Amino acid sequence: MKTLNIIGAGRVGSTLAALWRRCGAFAIQHVLNRTGGSAHKAVRFIGGGTGADGWHCLLPADTWLLATPDSEIARAAAELAASGLLRADDVVFHCSGALGSDVLRTALMPGVHAASVHPLKSFADPQAAVRNFTGTFCAAEGDAPALAVLVPVFEAIGARVTIIDRQAKTLYHAASVIVCNYLTALMEAGLQCYEKAGLPRATASAMMEPLVRETVDNVFRLGTVNALTGPIARGDHAVVVQQLEALQAADPRIAEIYRALGVMTTDLAGAQGRTDGTVLARLRQTLTDAQGALRLGK
Ligand SMILES: NC(=O)c1ccc[n+]([C@@H]2O[C@H](COP(=O)([O-])OP(=O)(O)OC[C@H]3O[C@@H](n4cnc5c(N)ncnc54)[C@H](OP(=O)(O)O)[C@@H]3O)[C@@H](O)[C@H]2O)c1
Repeated sequence: MKTLNIIGAGRVGSTLAALWRRCGAFAIQHVLNRTGGSAHKAVRFIGGGTGADGWHCLLPADTWLLATPDSEIARAAAELAASGLLRADDVVFHCSGALGSDVLRTALMPGVHAASVHPLKSFADPQAAVRNFTGTFCAAEGDAPALAVLVPVFEAIGARVTIIDRQAKTLYHAASVIVCNYLTALMEAGLQCYEKAGLPRATASAMMEPLVRETVDNVFRLGTVNALTGPIARGDHAVVVQQLEALQAADPRIAEIYRALGVMTTDLAGAQGRTDGTVLARLRQTLTDAQGALRLGK
């Protein structure tokens, strides 16, 4: 069985190590955190391995997981390279969504294989994450020998691994930011807009909930093109102009969001094929030209 050392066993490192120990995918060897106390606590959670008080306590391992916060990964990789513990064909990987495997490769010696495997999951509660990890999508990229080791061990704990292009890691993460973080910000913009229309925030939130849930269900059931409804899908130019004018007066920042997403909405409406192309072109023009939008409305 391959050995695993973990540098930075916090929420993600402890969860993965606990799962791998249970299924016997790795022999959990050493855990090194910033503090010895934290490493020993992680070992108790994992149910195996030995907590280390410094690099000098570690033995070599076949595989190294650097699960520190993103800002510490490059430093941990440099310290690992300087430790003299790495051997040719060892595998080193991290779980960041924002960083690629190149952050490791620049620090490590040739012959050591680097990868990143990003689980699309919140590990806020590691106990719960251990229980419900099965089915988690994980985006992996890196050196082929590293992926040959890592894909099977992630699949052994129930991950659904997708290989992504190493060069496209930043775009991949930006997509996750859009669908997760920006969706949250979009909900906030909608709430503020309801509030500007005179609704109490709690009422607005309660009103939004079924609308948002139904829309999200429709997107995954029907796809984005068929899920689209509303004034742009209907080609209703007058309504769009009125709304832009009202938003511009109430909150120009929300008007900006309305314009930017409105342009993408015209693409979806075009793909639906129910609205005339010239109407959509006029809408697009209105949305991209704020002043023009106001003039066209008069
Ligand atoms: N949390 C999530 O939901 C999530 C989801 C997907 C991916 N990720 C990724 O997973 C990685 C780990 O995130 P996390 O949330 O598990 O972090 P975390 O809970 O904050 O744990 C980080 C661990 O790293 C240790 N550490 C910090 N600096 C160190 C250093 N220089 N050397 C050795 N150990 C160090 C900390 O030790 P101490 O306890 O002693 O401070 C702590 O145990 C990150 O790359 C993150 O982007 C996180």
